Amino acid sequence: MWPYPKIVAHRGGGILAPENTVAGLRAGLAYGFRAVEFDVMLSKDGIGMVMHDPDFGRTVAGPGAVARTLARDLAAMDAGSWHSAPFKGEPVPYYTQFIDYCKQQGIWMNVEIKPAEGFEAATGAWVARVTRDAYADEIAASKADGNFARVPLLSSFSFEALAAARDSAPEVPRAYLLDRIPADWQQQARALQAVSINTNHKHLTRELAATIKAAGYGLFCYTVNDPDRAREILLWGVDGFCTDRVDLIGPAFT
Ligand code: G3P
Ligand code: MG
Repeated sequence: MWPYPKIVAHRGGGILAPENTVAGLRAGLAYGFRAVEFDVMLSKDGIGMVMHDPDFGRTVAGPGAVARTLARDLAAMDAGSWHSAPFKGEPVPYYTQFIDYCKQQGIWMNVEIKPAEGFEAATGAWVARVTRDAYADEIAASKADGNFARVPLLSSFSFEALAAARDSAPEVPRAYLLDRIPADWQQQARALQAVSINTNHKHLTRELAATIKAAGYGLFCYTVNDPDRAREILLWGVDGFCTDRVDLIGPAFT
């Protein structure tokens, strides 16, 4: 149910580097991480960029919005200075740059589809299609031997985005992101043909974890930064989690 790595670096390289940048991937790798979560949003011209916030102002200087800016202009923005001086000028990456880097370095990707409002279906369909095309060989090999560990996992809080991903490239596995697990979670997960529930560890209980695992789903948590809490949820049967504290919680954490 969870063929993927157990410990995943959140937003690239967690706290070590600016989120959602190639510098983050490099920093995670330096700590031995070969598994990463990051966020993808569409630019004005419909190109997937690795960004978390729909509006400028936090990781890039504002004002402005991702969905109203061309990809080439986003790629020229400084997404590093907000973190610290050594990362000044670190660019906003294209999703395809992340794919290339992760393939070269053997890094497994959990791609969070993070649509700006109104672009849910377009973002889901774009990310799924581009991922399927980039990983066509790995998908074919995984279908043959049943081991999906080499294929990325798409996830989203947006049901609409995941439904569009399912329709556009059903062969790329999907996880449903839920802050709190609603009563009808299984009905929704089934409709999305999701393989995993990815949820906020703060609202997870031992009972809910047992229910999700008993139903045959993968169970992944975000964002776990305390080693004691990490040990606790792993004992509950949680399959994996992402962390900002890649310096405290290593890839071989148990
Ligand atoms: O994918 C899990 C986690 O990244 C969801 O929250 O806001 O950090 O993207 P956020
Ligand atoms: Mg995310």
